[in-house]
Amino acid sequence: MDAPQIYVERTLAIVKPDAIHKSEEIEDIILRSGFAILQKRRVHLTPEQASDFYAEHYGKMFFPSLVAYMSSGPVLAIVIARDQAISYWRELIGPTNALKARQTHPDCLRAVYGTDDQRNALHGSDSFSSSEKEIRFFFPDSVIEPVPVGQAAKD
Ligand code: PPS
Repeated sequence: MDAPQIYVERTLAIVKPDAIHKSEEIEDIILRSGFAILQKRRVHLTPEQASDFYAEHYGKMFFPSLVAYMSSGPVLAIVIARDQAISYWRELIGPTNALKARQTHPDCLRAVYGTDDQRNALHGSDSFSSSEKEIRFFFPDSVIEPVPVGQAAKD
């Protein structure tokens, strides 16, 4: 008999340049929070790639500094999965502004690892459509493969 399969949601997490030195610790937290790590990839984005990834924010005052920051060093893109992965990961990372989050959500990951609204350590997709688009950005050939919960995919 085939092993039973459980269908769960996936989303994209990014460990940003300011937190890349903590990525092993952050991966442990991800696994301990009930996510499976399906794929991961360390990449140093060019300014053009960072502009494409954040295209929806083009024209905002912070856009140039966001692009410069996200292309200033390597990031770790991770496809993570569990039930309600998109909303759960967003809840775990907390509000955009890491400094304010220290007052309102002191245990969230941005409060712990981030500094402000730019250097906020982590990214999480905000909807199903953006998660699929963002996963394809970093993993163009991404296929959904089963990985036992509690284990990480290989680099
Ligand atoms: S918005 O305008 O409400 O849609 O923006 P927000 O969702 O808060 O943030 C979107 C991403 O922009 C980054 N950000 C900034 N970067 C640099 N400087 C400033 N002031 C700034 N404000 C917001 C923020 O880190 C978000 O990146 P992600 O990767 O989505 O966390």
